[in-house]
Amino acid sequence: MKTFYIETFGCQMNAHDSEKVVGTLVREGYAQVTDEADAGLILYNTCSIRDKAEQKVFHRLNEYKKLQGEGKKFAVIGCVAQQEGEKIFEKAPYVSLVSGSASYRHLPAMLARLEAGETRITGLDDRQTDETFDTEFTARTNPHRGYITIIEGCDKFCSYCVVPYTRGKERSRTSASVLAEAQMIAQQGFTEIQLLGQNVNSYRDPSGKRTFAELLTAVGEVNGIKRVRFTTSHPRHFTKDIVDAIDAMPALCDHIHLPVQSGSTDILRAMQREYTRDWYLERIAWTKAAKRDLSLTSDIIVGFPGETDKDFEDTITLLEAVNYDAIYGFKYSPRPNTPAIHMHDSIPEHVKVERLAILNARQREIQRSNYTRHLDQTMEVMVEHGANNRGQITGRSSQNKTVNFACDITPPIGSYIDVRITQVFPSSLVGEATSAPSALSPALLAQRALNARVEVLT
Ligand code: SAH
Ligand code: SF4
Ligand code: F3S
Repeated sequence: MKTFYIETFGCQMNAHDSEKVVGTLVREGYAQVTDEADAGLILYNTCSIRDKAEQKVFHRLNEYKKLQGEGKKFAVIGCVAQQEGEKIFEKAPYVSLVSGSASYRHLPAMLARLEAGETRITGLDDRQTDETFDTEFTARTNPHRGYITIIEGCDKFCSYCVVPYTRGKERSRTSASVLAEAQMIAQQGFTEIQLLGQNVNSYRDPSGKRTFAELLTAVGEVNGIKRVRFTTSHPRHFTKDIVDAIDAMPALCDHIHLPVQSGSTDILRAMQREYTRDWYLERIAWTKAAKRDLSLTSDIIVGFPGETDKDFEDTITLLEAVNYDAIYGFKYSPRPNTPAIHMHDSIPEHVKVERLAILNARQREIQRSNYTRHLDQTMEVMVEHGANNRGQITGRSSQNKTVNFACDITPPIGSYIDVRITQVFPSSLVGEATSAPSALSPALLAQRALNARVEVLT
């Protein structure tokens, strides 16, 4: 039997790419194993976003080397594969396949060459393609959420970021193909869909039928779908009709991830983000004027070249102005091929560390007070994990907040249950179930049984 093992790093797009790669491999007659020692083919789906990512990949490949000589084949795919290209063969000669995400639609052909014994197979030349990787054979490995990539690549070229170089140019799927996939997901019994794209809201329907906001609404209207999420939105393309669509349709979750990166207009300019602090805050004002209580989250980089104390202070005051429910803070790291690599990485590591700590501490205080608004509220929670060691079940609110709650029974993963909030922490809510869990569709249970069979242990 042909077997494979896959390890995935990076963003949600990468995780979902792996679901599509797994589906493709299974379609080609491979069985997934959960221990690399049992696999004939080992795939490493890589991320290159920060922190000398390529060095980590080579280090990891060195570890894999131990498994060499047992007739195993190795494939490096994803963002580091695209970035390092054929250098990977030089540094790790036992690797036979190197492919960036823009070439995954050629995977069946690449696998055939691998099986025929070729050892230098590349998928690296497709970054300028208009084609997207759509497949009906996606392995839906998340037990409660169906992902749909609606737009691939990125044309933004923020000065610090590798993504436009690793994922290629921006290209959208037709809204008809997105909706067909949404319907398929709903028929499989999923009630939650997450639309994905590095800039999900720069979506442009190639058929010209729907705007991004109209697509959101149309996905929310799909029979059986109760929750629609979307990441990541770019402020430059954040239009008011997105807020209006969320206001009009409860199935669209009341959460917007809108990374600002910096609160300083000067730094935003150096980052080539194409907006100012005021432009960003204007979009935030639209979300605050919404009828629904919209939860806002963000990504922030500290220590970008030239970031002064005043620039950093601007980021801190922006946190306060927006009142985020969560942020992901990162220390700037210089990345290959990006324009910022030519700027002097002027902020010393200890200052970056200090700024990140100040940022996170300030945000924690904001959340400490923010989350109190949920005390005594009753909210619908989707169950995501069974009981923890304290007997609490974990789920998520529409706003994407973690809710831990006590319940007499163990509700099934993917079911919905009402929870009254009795305690609040800076990044989670605690409560007790006040309703019975909703029933899962037989289709979803069948899908899970199928997934369990995909992961065959040899
Ligand atoms: N497309 C999304 C983000 C993709 S990468 C957007 O534009 O918002 C996820 C996050 O990683 C970014 O939002 C940014 O905060 C961070 N990031 C990207 N490149 C980085 C770098 N060179 N150093 C530090 N953080 C980085
Ligand atoms: Fe990177 Fe900027 Fe594109 Fe986001 S928008 S993926 S940060 S280049
Ligand atoms: Fe990483 Fe590539 Fe995603 S660099 S964050 S896996 S787009």
